[in-house]
Amino acid sequence: MIIVANWKAYVDSVAKAKTLVTSAKKLASKGNVEIVIAPPAPYLSLFADKKGKPAIAAQNISDSAGGASTGEVTAPLLHNLGVSYAIIGHSERRAMGESNERIASKVMQALSNGITPIVCIGENERDADAMYLHFLRTQISSIFAPLSQKDRARVVLAYEPLWAIGKSAAESITPNDLYEMILYIRKVLAEYFTGKNADKVQILYGGSVEPGNIRALAEGDQINGFLVGHASVDASTFAALVKAVS
Ligand code: PGA
Repeated sequence: MIIVANWKAYVDSVAKAKTLVTSAKKLASKGNVEIVIAPPAPYLSLFADKKGKPAIAAQNISDSAGGASTGEVTAPLLHNLGVSYAIIGHSERRAMGESNERIASKVMQALSNGITPIVCIGENERDADAMYLHFLRTQISSIFAPLSQKDRARVVLAYEPLWAIGKSAAESITPNDLYEMILYIRKVLAEYFTGKNADKVQILYGGSVEPGNIRALAEGDQINGFLVGHASVDASTFAALVKAVS
């Protein structure tokens, strides 16, 4: 089980960032859960360490390989810092204009520089005609179609329905709906893998994961982990959440 703490832009002091990482270190040294911290970019160099526990993720990555790209944080730079993962295509970045094509090229940059991409997919809303399934299929295809079989297996997917993000456990997805969505995602993935290899892709869920619902969402062994936003920036809430599935 992987739990990714996506701090978004909630943490705006180094002191608070250090407190959260110290607490995550304690959690990471004990349980069977792999903890990954995704701090804002300016903190990455404070915490990144390839063998580190917790592992460190960037919240975004450039699709530029480097050179004349003012303001970009590139995959080679992140790799050399000791960053192991990058969240790519988060809905909050898609809302700023990131297209499926741009996301696919970011995924390629990450993979060719030894960084594991955690790629976010998810529908805005659920319509009665189930067009959202088609929407998800397009997102999945745009990520996996351009990749080799070997690279496809290195992608971690995070299913994050937008309507469930930033709310409370009560408004999150139900365990039953999550189960069905993961089955659907694996069915689409099977088109991009030989044999049963699609079953090996790690799929995380994100969207109002809190201590109160994480255990129920983890039941059934369909889910390989969670991408946690607001509940990851309070040390005791995050510890309660990790303990609930340890
Ligand atoms: P949330 O955010 O846990 O605050 O809903 C999750 C995410 O957007 O990654």
